[in-house]
Amino acid sequence: MSKERWTSEEIPDQKGRLVIVTGSTSGLGKEAARVFCGKRALVILAVRNVKKGEAVVSEIKKEYPDAELMVRMLDLSSLTSIKDFSEKVLKDFDRLDILINNAGVMMCPFSKTEDGFEIQMGTNHLGHFALTGYLLPLLKKTENSCIVATSSMAHKAGNIDFTDLNWEKRAYKTMQAYGDSKIANLYFAFELAKKLETTGNNPKVTAAHPGWTATELQRHAGLFSFLNNFFAQDVAMGTLPTLRAATDPNAQPGDYFGPAGLFEMRGYPIKVPSNKRSHDKAAAQKLWELSQELTGVVY
Ligand SMILES: NC(=O)c1ccc[n+]([C@@H]2O[C@H](COP(=O)([O-])OP(=O)(O)OC[C@H]3O[C@@H](n4cnc5c(N)ncnc54)[C@H](OP(=O)(O)O)[C@@H]3O)[C@@H](O)[C@H]2O)c1
Repeated sequence: MSKERWTSEEIPDQKGRLVIVTGSTSGLGKEAARVFCGKRALVILAVRNVKKGEAVVSEIKKEYPDAELMVRMLDLSSLTSIKDFSEKVLKDFDRLDILINNAGVMMCPFSKTEDGFEIQMGTNHLGHFALTGYLLPLLKKTENSCIVATSSMAHKAGNIDFTDLNWEKRAYKTMQAYGDSKIANLYFAFELAKKLETTGNNPKVTAAHPGWTATELQRHAGLFSFLNNFFAQDVAMGTLPTLRAATDPNAQPGDYFGPAGLFEMRGYPIKVPSNKRSHDKAAAQKLWELSQELTGVVY
């Protein structure tokens, strides 16, 4: 199914469709929002910094004056904020075609979310877990809807300690915690795809990673930030796997897209394999149960 040079040209007109992109103030999220605006979708920028979001709206409007987009406050490190955001969406809209779970933090110093979760697992996985659970009824009502999880090559370093998800009993290793959150994104995508496949008209769940893309993500990782100059691809290329995962009609539930080039660092998006551990069904189920317990969102 993988075409050699899939580009955003392949995305059909999205008029009448609603797209939510989390973390659309910079990097991949901003670019995905821009592309969907160009395809005439109604786009919600789900962001923690509304001012930054409004600047993105102005920028996109300059390119697409007729674009339909809005900024809504969503802080994925707060279950209260996630609930508020979701309740407003459920009240204001009668469809949701594409949910792009994109927002993320990488290698930050140890801290906790408002609800006491380790910051990377809390933001990257648990926040999106709760958000998706709240929005699922709307996605289920919408024909051909899709949920995209954003993972990373760093999932290969992921090895979650289920006895200490919040790093309370161990010395903190920020790279390990990032890898854990990114394998969690894949456990989530594969487990939800499996759960939804068994019943009627359900959203398709896919996953993507951008290889190595120059964005603001590396702000806490000086060396990676420096190496961006030599290895990273630009944000337009880095966003293609996400866009393909969201719109390719041939994508199947559980498909994972990433760049086709060496070590999946750069290139056009194709279906890529994830590591063996990411397909550990028992671990995925365990994470699902723990995520339900911690967030209080059960689905
Ligand atoms: N760039 C890469 O090479 C790379 C590689 C593998 C995977 N990824 C993944 O790609 C995704 C996007 O990253 P990016 O590279 O585009 O990084 P980025 O430029 O730093 O963008 C991250 C976005 O997430 C938002 N965000 C962070 N914490 C949030 C929170 N608590 N609530 C709501 N939004 C929050 C940021 O908001 P602010 O603007 O307010 O900070 C920003 O809009 C992440 O999931 C990342 O793990 C990126």
